[in-house]
Amino acid sequence: MRFLFLTVSILLGCLNQLLAQSALLAEPPIIPIPVLYQQHIGTFQVTAKTIILFDTSVEDSVYSFFQQSLTILTKSALPIHKKGRADYIKFSINPQQITEPEGYSLAITSSTVVLVGHDKAGLFYGFQSLLQLFSRSLIIPACFIKDHPRFSYRGMHLDVSRNFFPVSFIKKYIDILAYYKFNTFHWHLTDDQGWRIEIKKYPLLQQIAAYRNETLIGHKKELPHHFDGKKYGGYYTQNEIKEVIEYATQRSITIIPEIEMPGHAMAALSAYPQYGCTGGPYSAATFWGIFDEVYCAGNDSTFIFLQNVLDEVISLFPTTYIHVGGDECVKTKWKSCPKCQKRIQIEHLKDEDELQSYFIKRIGDYIYSKGRKIIGWDEILEGGLPPDATVMSWRGIEGGIDAIRQKHNAIMTPESHVYLDYYQSLYPQEPLAAAGYTPLSKVYAYEPIPADFSPEDTKYLIGIQGNIWTEYMPTSQKVEYMMLPRALAIAELAWSKSEKKNYSDFLRRVRMHQEIMKTKGINCADVFDEITDSVTIKTDQLPILHLSTSSPKSEIYYTLDGSNPSISSLLYKAPIEIVKSRTVRAAVFFEGKQKGRVFEKDFHISKSIGKPVSFTPTPKGNYKPVNNLTTVNGIVGTTRYNTGEWVGFQDTNVEVQVDLQTIQTVSDLRINVLVYHWQRMWAPIQLVFSVSENGQSFKEVYTHTNFPINGINSVHASLQQPLKARYIRIKAINPASIPAGEYGAGGRPWLLVDEFEVN
Ligand code: ACM
Ligand code: ZN
Repeated sequence: MRFLFLTVSILLGCLNQLLAQSALLAEPPIIPIPVLYQQHIGTFQVTAKTIILFDTSVEDSVYSFFQQSLTILTKSALPIHKKGRADYIKFSINPQQITEPEGYSLAITSSTVVLVGHDKAGLFYGFQSLLQLFSRSLIIPACFIKDHPRFSYRGMHLDVSRNFFPVSFIKKYIDILAYYKFNTFHWHLTDDQGWRIEIKKYPLLQQIAAYRNETLIGHKKELPHHFDGKKYGGYYTQNEIKEVIEYATQRSITIIPEIEMPGHAMAALSAYPQYGCTGGPYSAATFWGIFDEVYCAGNDSTFIFLQNVLDEVISLFPTTYIHVGGDECVKTKWKSCPKCQKRIQIEHLKDEDELQSYFIKRIGDYIYSKGRKIIGWDEILEGGLPPDATVMSWRGIEGGIDAIRQKHNAIMTPESHVYLDYYQSLYPQEPLAAAGYTPLSKVYAYEPIPADFSPEDTKYLIGIQGNIWTEYMPTSQKVEYMMLPRALAIAELAWSKSEKKNYSDFLRRVRMHQEIMKTKGINCADVFDEITDSVTIKTDQLPILHLSTSSPKSEIYYTLDGSNPSISSLLYKAPIEIVKSRTVRAAVFFEGKQKGRVFEKDFHISKSIGKPVSFTPTPKGNYKPVNNLTTVNGIVGTTRYNTGEWVGFQDTNVEVQVDLQTIQTVSDLRINVLVYHWQRMWAPIQLVFSVSENGQSFKEVYTHTNFPINGINSVHASLQQPLKARYIRIKAINPASIPAGEYGAGGRPWLLVDEFEVN
């Protein structure tokens, strides 16, 4: 009996192990997903007998690097032997066998692992796949992988000017990039808020330009601005930069340094004011935005300064490409600078746009004379591209398309999809971020190659890049939180074939990598499986709230009375019709336990819900609603203005009208206006409410002119006498331009309104 029991338990133990192994087999954890993954029978296990089998095609330094990387997992170093018949891991480079650049094959049997790279990079990427397979267990499935990248440029950017990060973090950042097969690190080294690279010829860049007097606290849209009063800064010495370049090179990563010009130059000008149009004095910016003070394009000594800086940059960085910025250069100082105007005249330039083009071309020529090439943000298209320049398209994809049509290379980095300084969750508890909303699903959904591209066009689209602007990332932990897991989606877009794209399989792998990152001490965000919602509204109907979660085998429970949800609350089975004003609270539950934070949504139900709305003129840009009924859907737009709720206009006269469809008694009219001067959102000069029974003759019932709040201004017309009305109209008269001295002066202000409530 005892014997039988033992046998059964041993058998069960084996079965469990087999089951665990088959789970491993079925779920390769590799990100980005390989071109081909074939699962075979059996497993390879690292044991005390396992060796690394030497092959002459691989350099000694690569062996020691691989050996060290494996030791982190195996704990003791695998010996390198010249001969072996089994229990080995073999690395080799063979461009005849693997024909695609950066490609590799990885054949794993029960006794051997054979990794072949097309080149050193391919070998390195195959090794990353192997490390990912080993990340959960030293027993790995027998399989065959054949893999190569979709794009030759796979980049991640990091801004170290707004916040400065130590070399140790830059190395950690590079490690993360390497693990996910990125091959380029775009190092944004200079900007208005601090100069971060040692230039020996110009010591004041280290002494002055590397520091700002203090830093803004909180989001720049909030007023008044508060500052921390603390001097902040730092820079990388040339020795540190060399150390980082060597570290990156070992990991198949090219570093592209960015030296910004002609804009984003305040820090440099604080040290060398003679290169600005007015001569200063200047100081490094202490808050975020775009500034008027830029390098003077009329002054030859500006170019000599920048060329000397570039000489040192070029001698440090072995890369083909030098990034010269070119974005967001405000040209107001050039307009009033006699030297800049003289340059325009002498060079027969049409305007300041052509002066910017002259600037970039002159610097480009210098860089070409040194055997290098330039990359610039898409503004370098304005006024004409310098020969052979590569364009980084950030204000959407149009700049990239334009460059490609001119037979220039382009890299897609559209802020709509791959700016990782934007929020990844709409939950109000989310830590402070820039403006937009770019959840993991949206990053993953991005397709870099436009549908109408020919194969010829596609050749010029060399790749994609994710950007990390660090205004709201004062710590490296915050950078990791904003970067991950969204950068994994970018890695997969950059490397994997588009036909391999599968969001739910990607999420399955991301969840595994969250665990891997935890063990590595990387602060990956954990919000992508939380509730996402949408509200649908149809004419004459009540709003319908749809909730969903990507969390597997989970349920959503919700309440309608504002209380906290639990597993005894209502189980979400179908979209919820919102019949009266209330707060919906919901949460995801897995095996009876709450996962993640509580979702919350307030609804305001009034007589205007679902009633036809018209706008004159039509709303614009990011604030064009998906449906005109957005202003009567029961949801009041919040200070997170990127949710699609706010409707925006850039016109001096705006009308919003709702048709209640029957004559009704009305006594209370409301609408909110969002004012953030630092987002170019301005109050109207006046807002007038009128009502009508027939849609022809309107009676003005209320005029509002006082909008004192930087944020949401509620405009509330409480009528002394209830009136009969079918049509309610709100007329806004707006300022024509943003006043002088204000952010975005001279440009068109936005009017943002939401939720037209009638009672
Ligand atoms: C940029 O985001 N200003 C390139
Ligand atoms: Zn000038």
